[in-house]
Amino acid sequence: MSHLSTVIIIAAATVANVGVRDVMDAMIIPASNALFDVGRQAPESDEEWLALRKQAVILVEAGRALTIDSRSRGIAWDNWSEALSAAGQSAINAIDNRDADGALDAGNALIETCTDCHLQHLPAGN
Ligand code: HEC
Repeated sequence: MSHLSTVIIIAAATVANVGVRDVMDAMIIPASNALFDVGRQAPESDEEWLALRKQAVILVEAGRALTIDSRSRGIAWDNWSEALSAAGQSAINAIDNRDADGALDAGNALIETCTDCHLQHLPAGN
């Protein structure tokens, strides 16, 4: 029993150390870059479309990851996080239709969301 509690405490400490910055670095920055890159080079094979789809899925889930209690900074924050997930969802819809323009539109909506949240939550704006 005491062994089990130790395991649970270690697991909780690990989760607490993964913060907003980690979600940006590990999920949101690479996944959004993959979507923005469609402007330079649209996917050409099924394999490339499916690789892009995985990045859009990461965006949907990263938006959700920003809203958990330890990361949320209020209602506006949650709304931007949900907008991020929604842009990822539109990207998935476009990707499933092999619609590069639609994926780019989703990327443009995404940029607005990044900027809106950063203006409020990064010290110097970004
Ligand atoms: C809901 C709010 C929110 C959204 C949406 C958001 N970010 Fe962030 N972002 C932050 C916060 C807060 C930080 C600072 C985290 C820290 O350093 O502790 C940050 C940091 C960053 C940084 C590092 C900036 C620096 O100068 O240190 C980058 C790059 C970044 N985000 C990219 C993005 C991109 C790209 C998107 C959109 C696809 C995005 N972010 C969406 C809140 C957000």
